[in-house]
Amino acid sequence: MKHIPVLLNDVLETLGDISGRTIVDCTFGAGGYSRAFLERGANVIAFDRDTNVIADAEKLKQEYGNKFRFINAPFSEIKQLKSDEFDDVVFDLGISSMQIDNAERGFSFRFDAPLDMRMDTRTDITAADLINNKTVEELADILYEYGDIKKSYKMAALLKEKQPKTTFELRDLIKVPGDIAPIFQALRIAVNDEMGQIKDALNSVDELLQTGGRCVCVTFHSIEDRIVKNTFRKWTENVGDPRLPTIIAPKYKLLKTKTPTDAELDMNSRARSAHLRAVQKV
Ligand SMILES: C[S@@+](CC[C@H](N)C(=O)[O-])C[C@H]1O[C@@H](n2cnc3c(N)ncnc32)[C@H](O)[C@@H]1O
Repeated sequence: MKHIPVLLNDVLETLGDISGRTIVDCTFGAGGYSRAFLERGANVIAFDRDTNVIADAEKLKQEYGNKFRFINAPFSEIKQLKSDEFDDVVFDLGISSMQIDNAERGFSFRFDAPLDMRMDTRTDITAADLINNKTVEELADILYEYGDIKKSYKMAALLKEKQPKTTFELRDLIKVPGDIAPIFQALRIAVNDEMGQIKDALNSVDELLQTGGRCVCVTFHSIEDRIVKNTFRKWTENVGDPRLPTIIAPKYKLLKTKTPTDAELDMNSRARSAHLRAVQKV
């Protein structure tokens, strides 16, 4: 299924008049956001680490020429850009419908496939390798932290013992049906270092964003959202001890926080856990 962009209208509303601005779309996916930015007169620099999106990116390149640049790399590489190369930054985190629906990628327990889960297939470590390489304690931490799995140690020990190599082998080891999706999600987050990526990229955004520049993040997972919320809170707070006279004014102002409306949820169930947060450098 083609990916339906989530909260796109809210992202556009938050960015305001983008004509002539340059927006970094950190998560190109099917290009829904990038296309909307280009249609409104913006220039776009887009990142995606999945090589499968290159064809869609090339189509936009043909239509928009120099107004569109695609970088097939993790968005933590935003640090390679210079401050004056862009105005605003947008993240639409997580995986796309194309990734989850592509049986061979191993993201979904609905299809039997090698236990892969790499967004970037040029990297080495698949989910099966991760289970093989990590200790029981490390695996238990991953399951607990990213999947909220209560009996995480027991599950981790079972994974180490059985070493599942396919999605169905993994699925069939999980006896509590409600744990299947969270365990797949936890392994995917670890395989792709999703939390490390967002922390790293936000640090670079803070260093590079110019005054007036906006940073908009759409998250789908509570830990991801907590990282964005806490980072934005730090950016928008006064710096210093409130009892002392020298308080440094915040570097950012909060623009928006938003979750999808019922109408959006009816159209797109993937939007269920989506959360938009946006700030502007002042
Ligand atoms: C939710 S989809 C984005 C959908 C897009 N906004 C659209 O409208 O089509 C997320 C995309 O971001 C990519 N992605 C996730 N984490 C990434 C990272 N750290 N670096 C680069 N791309 C990443 C995924 O490969 C996926 O294609």
